[in-house]
Amino acid sequence: MAQFHYKELGLVNTREMFRKAMAGGYAVPAYNFNNLEQLEAIIIGCIQSKSPVILQCSGSARKYMHEAMVPHLVKGAVEMMEALGAIIPIALHLDHGDTLELAKSCINSGFSSVMIDGSHHPFEENIRLTRQVVDFAHERDVTVEGELGVLAGVEDEVSATASHYTKPSEVEEFVKQTGVDSLAISMGTSHGAFKFKVKAGETPPPLRFDILEEIENRLPGFPIVLHGASSVMPEYVDLINRFGGRMEEAVGISEEQLRRAARSAVCKINIDSDGRLAMTAVLRKIFAENPGEFDPRKYLGSARDELIKMVKYKNEQVLMSAGKA
Ligand code: G3H
Ligand code: 13P
Ligand code: ZN
Repeated sequence: MAQFHYKELGLVNTREMFRKAMAGGYAVPAYNFNNLEQLEAIIIGCIQSKSPVILQCSGSARKYMHEAMVPHLVKGAVEMMEALGAIIPIALHLDHGDTLELAKSCINSGFSSVMIDGSHHPFEENIRLTRQVVDFAHERDVTVEGELGVLAGVEDEVSATASHYTKPSEVEEFVKQTGVDSLAISMGTSHGAFKFKVKAGETPPPLRFDILEEIENRLPGFPIVLHGASSVMPEYVDLINRFGGRMEEAVGISEEQLRRAARSAVCKINIDSDGRLAMTAVLRKIFAENPGEFDPRKYLGSARDELIKMVKYKNEQVLMSAGKA
């Protein structure tokens, strides 16, 4: 398999992105992708809103596309951007890396940033694993995201039924001992489209901004990452339910709370589920209304267009990263 350094692919690491986001009071979007249409939509949506972007690829997404394919797809996306006469900073990031081997393999194939998620391990083991990844990554000018605290929901094939909030008392030692460039925290968000068990009419529990504030006080100016940050956009859930889907209980994080987070030390906001919902909603509608349609360019093209719209909306109205490229 061909090996690349990310600079050969036209990518950047997240250091400068986060420095600017911290100073500018916005968050850089990290959108997950699993295929060509999602990748194109993310890049085009970010070009059109002039936003920096983190292309986020989980271990299972990398398997799905094949690990040899990913750097070429991303290089193609960079070339498409250049052909469109645009320049935005693009990082390629491993989402929820769980082993040193996976992190090394991604770095050697052109990733500019990796997450090592040792949050399920005891504190000392999390530090040890994260430190190993940081040592390998920093020698190659690749940035590293660590995690403290556990989110409820599914984290790349690891599923947690209960969340454990990040303990602010642990963050300084973790950052100092590991040398990470950013830290994912658990303050009440959760992965997936069913984030909270609430009855109709009830509002989900608010995010723990008190935890975030204490972490900001202990780590002034240090980039914080928010996982599980999809809003589970009601318009998509409604469309899905209207056209044969069953996602009645789906609920996410309010945009108001995400805007507040984006203004704070949160420099990276992860969005996967909302992109899945946008594409699924369009596909369900198309197939319900056009039972004879069988040209993938028609239905996948429409799904891609919807995702472009969603990305622009998030950048312009929620993360406030539009115009910051
Ligand atoms: O946090 C997990 C992400 O949404 C990635 O999910 O492992 O199904 O690609 P995945
Ligand atoms: P959502 O499931 O809320 O989109 O979160 C995605 C995520 O955190 C990826 O790491
Ligand atoms: Zn996550």
